Amino acid sequence: MCGIVAYIGQREAYPIILKGLKRLEYRGYDSAGIALLNDGLKVYKKKGKVANLEEELQGKDLHSNIGIGHTRWATHGEPSDRNAHPHRSASGRFAMIHNGIIENYAQLKQELLSKGYVFHSDTDTEVLLNFIDDIQKNNDCQPEEAVRIALKRVVGAYVIVLLDQENPDTLIAARKGSPLVIGVGKNEHFLASDASPIIEYTKEVVYVNDYEVAIIRPDELILKNLGNERQTPFITKLDMELAAIEKGGYDHFMLKEIFEQPQTIFDCLRGRLDATAGTITMSGIEKYADELVNTNRIVMVACGTSWHAGLVAEYIFEELCRINVEVEYASEFRYRNPVINKGDVIIAISQSGETADTLVAIENAKNQGAIIFGVVNVVGSSISRASHAGAYTHAGPEIGVASTKAFTAQLAVLTMMALAVAKKKGTITEQRYQTLLKELEAVPEKVSKLLKSVDGIKALAEKYKDAEDFLYLGRGFNFPVALEGALKLKEISYIHAEGYPAAEMKHGPIALVDETLPVVFIATRDSYHEKVISNMQEIKARKGMVISVINEGDEQSISLSNDVIIVPEADEVIAPMLSVIPMQLLAYYIGVARGLDVDKPRNLAKSVTVE
Ligand code: F6R
Repeated sequence: MCGIVAYIGQREAYPIILKGLKRLEYRGYDSAGIALLNDGLKVYKKKGKVANLEEELQGKDLHSNIGIGHTRWATHGEPSDRNAHPHRSASGRFAMIHNGIIENYAQLKQELLSKGYVFHSDTDTEVLLNFIDDIQKNNDCQPEEAVRIALKRVVGAYVIVLLDQENPDTLIAARKGSPLVIGVGKNEHFLASDASPIIEYTKEVVYVNDYEVAIIRPDELILKNLGNERQTPFITKLDMELAAIEKGGYDHFMLKEIFEQPQTIFDCLRGRLDATAGTITMSGIEKYADELVNTNRIVMVACGTSWHAGLVAEYIFEELCRINVEVEYASEFRYRNPVINKGDVIIAISQSGETADTLVAIENAKNQGAIIFGVVNVVGSSISRASHAGAYTHAGPEIGVASTKAFTAQLAVLTMMALAVAKKKGTITEQRYQTLLKELEAVPEKVSKLLKSVDGIKALAEKYKDAEDFLYLGRGFNFPVALEGALKLKEISYIHAEGYPAAEMKHGPIALVDETLPVVFIATRDSYHEKVISNMQEIKARKGMVISVINEGDEQSISLSNDVIIVPEADEVIAPMLSVIPMQLLAYYIGVARGLDVDKPRNLAKSVTVE
């Protein structure tokens, strides 16, 4: 949700910022812009993707050792050149980039309008910038102080970076609620929304905390809180390689990430699961393990694909641990005044670790006494830091906007957590526990095998690419997979799709069924299988086109299906990690067959840091 990059040091800033923006483009691609100090303050911006800006700037003298850049996902104001960042202050002295939303911008704007300010964009960012500019002029103070004074009045979420043409050796940044990483080099600093623009220059980073202002010079990084007290920058080492954020020969990041799953699931299990010894070790949650084992209620809080992982986990925890589980959309949970009882456990699930709704939801619940476990992919992210304990999913950077490998890694972590709790509570037999450990250990191998059947799925994509609607149906552990299949197809192909519990379909969606409607059944062999077959018959009787995702030798399903996708057999607890893979591939290949930009679907952003 908007990407920011900035550089200050001895090198040319433009190529570093441009490359960084391309790496952050997954966060938004409505417009892009850069500001540099080159014989005064220069601001360049362009509607559309970063490549449009790059083309526009060809042949220009862009020499500068300091600069800021932005790639936008529009909130206030349509995507356009004039709403693109950086914005320039009325005095002309400052340029600023911003990621987040200023909720009280209308009030601040009114104040500025009454003082005669004129606005050149529809953005909340320009309002905040002029508010800072106004404070600086009126108090004749250092820009850093003006930023602090301004931010005390601001309601909302932000990361801002300010470039000041009167201080060519200083950048000022501040954060609340949106992510900011500062890379520390030798006589240089790199700022970005995540580590991907920084990784090739330095592995030493500082994660800026909420309500901190950073004053950054080539050889100095000062952090202060809004009360002007110095804070100690805590330097962390990045555990990430450059190759992890490049396409590695694949046509798209999404495809690369789908194909990485045997490895990412393996990485997630590694060092935690030992099927031979019969143990699960999750050091991140040990400190609060008793709270997890003794709780009467777990609430999974998440959005989108991560919410689907929470739904699968509901089935798993209830089945194995006999704990009451609720799964909540973070955006609803945060505003609903939910009842939180002492001892309640919240599991926050998030790939990015920056989703605003999830973050605020857990902060609210924490204030009411809940214990928060984070199941997060991005190390050092806001949700991981706001949690009491947690387990990283170790899926590596996920750059394709549609979440794929993060989902299966979330399921791997949540399954391990459930198994560890069940074992400790005595709610699982020794035999089932041992079986499930072995099954879990076998998942990477099975996913590998499954990924060899892409040709069949590619052919299905060609066959069904012009459908106007899709229905996805599943029951039990596979019901959330139906939801995830529909979500993947919608976001990647722009085909309308609905996921439903297979039996619930009779209560409405069945009216949609005719000979033009493809209906995807996730019908692997489990305790619901016979029931799902009956639902398949109901669709077939109404001439729907059945595509079934089944296990080898399921003749009954084959006889009812127009097309089948075979997935390796697994225990029903484990099955979603396998049955979701064809959902990802089908969406991907349909998107490609329709000629769409699958890594950057329209209107979407990878990390939703606004509510
Ligand atoms: C779907 C997708 C989104 C995210 C959702 C939550 O493919 O990517 O639905 O799952 O925005 O994001 P995280 O997991 O980063 O909190």
